Amino acid sequence: MTTKISVIGAGNVGATCAQRLAEKNLGDIVLVDIVEGIPQGKALDIMQSGPVVGFNSLVIGTNDFADIKDSSLVIVTAGLARKPGMSRDDLLKMNAAIITDVVNNIKKYAPNSIILLVTNPLDTMTYLAWKVSGFPPNRVLGMAPLLDLARMATFIALELNAPITEVKAVVLGTHGDLMVPVPSQTTVKGQSITELLSDNKIKQIVTRTQNGGAEIVAHLKTGSAYYAPSAAAVYMAEAVLKDTKETIISSVYANGEYGLKDLYVGLPAKLGKNGVEEIVEIELTEEERAALQKSAEAIKNNNAKIQ
Ligand code: LAC
Repeated sequence: MTTKISVIGAGNVGATCAQRLAEKNLGDIVLVDIVEGIPQGKALDIMQSGPVVGFNSLVIGTNDFADIKDSSLVIVTAGLARKPGMSRDDLLKMNAAIITDVVNNIKKYAPNSIILLVTNPLDTMTYLAWKVSGFPPNRVLGMAPLLDLARMATFIALELNAPITEVKAVVLGTHGDLMVPVPSQTTVKGQSITELLSDNKIKQIVTRTQNGGAEIVAHLKTGSAYYAPSAAAVYMAEAVLKDTKETIISSVYANGEYGLKDLYVGLPAKLGKNGVEEIVEIELTEEERAALQKSAEAIKNNNAKIQ
């Protein structure tokens, strides 16, 4: 049987996820949105690139959640972006309502799936999805640290004029202002960036990474990033679907690891057919460990608002 992957939300992130999934031949794809016509039109358009690009995925657009039936993996991108005059709490509550509805449908139609959250505020929405689904925590995870570390790696590569693929960056914690870039574990061709860049330069790169999403919003003005976010989500999806067990920093349920408990937070984790197979502990400096604790507190504050 062909693998079925559903993407909820046919906006820029969701549609680009569907495109990347198809181009990687990862399975048949169902693109769901509440707006009539949009998922149907985009799905048809993506599928019609198959003969040119060379993939065989069926790509179906629908407004009906019943079409996600028996999906192996569901990527959730549905939700609102902040608009002028809206508080962060408004966004949190509105997206919480959307995620609750979406996850209830996933529970109903794809009860054995793995849920990959992309909607912001990411760590809290992933926690909510886990609660609403009643799934074991390994079957619910969130995308964002991989996006954040990709941004950090890009800035380092630009600074050092190094090939982007030779930079291995590490970012932990929340996908928000208090995310935790980890210079001590970040390398270029195996060499620590602490030996390649001045403290001041590293500080600038850390700050630019923390503001990476906002920098793009400021350019686009009417929306936020989607090329790198969809690349990160689909990379994680591939690890799950192909059972690679690769360690990928993801928003995962912490149950004592790194001294953190009962929250979803960005930590290194082996991903495979069971979703989160294992959380991996890496060396952190005292300062990085303290920053991770602060990051976790910020997530817990947000989590408390949706209880
Ligand atoms: C970003 C938003 C989408 O980081 O969270 O680009």
